[in-house]
Amino acid sequence: MIDYGIAGKTAIVTGGSRGIGRACAMALASQGVNVAITARRENLLEEAAADIRKETGGKVLVVPADMTSTEDVKGMVAKVVAEFGGVDILVNNAASFPYGTALQLSVDDWIAHFNVKAFGYLRTMFEVYPLMQKNHWGRIINIAGQAARAGGGSAGANNSAIINMTKAFALDLAKDGITANAVHPGGPADTDREPMKHEYDSLQTGRSVEEIAAEAARNIPPIGRRIVSADPAKIVLFLASMQADCITGETLAINAGADRTVIY
Ligand SMILES: NC(=O)c1ccc[n+]([C@@H]2O[C@H](COP(=O)([O-])OP(=O)(O)OC[C@H]3O[C@@H](n4cnc5c(N)ncnc54)[C@H](OP(=O)(O)O)[C@@H]3O)[C@@H](O)[C@H]2O)c1
Repeated sequence: MIDYGIAGKTAIVTGGSRGIGRACAMALASQGVNVAITARRENLLEEAAADIRKETGGKVLVVPADMTSTEDVKGMVAKVVAEFGGVDILVNNAASFPYGTALQLSVDDWIAHFNVKAFGYLRTMFEVYPLMQKNHWGRIINIAGQAARAGGGSAGANNSAIINMTKAFALDLAKDGITANAVHPGGPADTDREPMKHEYDSLQTGRSVEEIAAEAARNIPPIGRRIVSADPAKIVLFLASMQADCITGETLAINAGADRTVIY
C-alpha cells in the first residue's frame, strides 16, 4: 500500500461533478482529503458529492462556480477557505470541448475554449498559490490532453498552453514546496465525451455512429483494455501525495500504451 500522507489536507477539484474530475475527487476523498468540487450545475455537483461521501465517508463541499469568471473563482476559493481553512491541492480539470477542426471553429469558439480551460486554470492557480505558499506545501495538477502532442482543433493549442503554464508555475513555486504537474488523461471509455466523439467523427466522415462506436470498442490498446476515469485519477492522487515531492513541471500521459510517440 502506498502511504500517500495527505489525510486532512484540502483539495479543490474543478469540473468535479462528472467524468475525470469526479473520479479525482473520489480518489482524494478515499485518502481522507477534504474535497471541494466545483462546476456550474449545482444539482450534478450535489449528486457527485453524495456518491463520494457514501463511498469514502469523506468531507465534500459543493461550490457552484463558472471558471470563466474571475469573480466566481475568487468567491469559490474563499468559500473553500472558510469551510476547510486553506487549500493544499488544486486539480484543474473543468473544460468544455468544441468539436471541430481549426477552421470549422469560429474565432469565438477558440476564445471560449481557451477562456474556460487554459485561462480558467490560470485563474484558479493565481487564487490558490499564495495560500499554498503560507504553508510551504502545495500540489497543482492540471488535466491537459494528448491533443497537445497530436495537434488539431483548438484542443491541441489549448492543452499545449496548459503544459507551458504548468512548467512556468512549477519553476516559480519550487522554492515554496509547491509542485505543479500536468496529466494527459488519454480518452477514458466512461466519460460523457465518448458518445459525443462518435457523433463528431460520424459528421466528419459520413460513417454511422454505430459503426464508429463498434470500431472504438474493437480498438483495444496494448495493455489489453481501454482506460476509465479512475485510471488518470490514480495518477493524480499520486502526484498530489507526499511521495511525489520530487516531481514538478512534468507531464504524464495515461494512455494504456496507445501512443507510439517517444517523448524525452
Ligand atoms: N474525456 C476525454 O476523452 C478527455 C481526453 C483528453 C482530455 N480530457 C480533459 O479532461 C478533463 C475532464 O474531461 P471529462 O471528459 O471528464 O469532462 P466532462 O465530463 O465534460 O466534465 C466537464 C466538467 O467541467 C465542468 N465545466 C464545464 N465548463 C465549466 C465552466 N465554464 N465552469 C466550471 N465548470 C465547468 C462540467 O460541469 P458543468 O457543465 O455543470 O459546469 C463538468 O463537471 C477536461 O479538461 C478535458 O479536456 C478529456
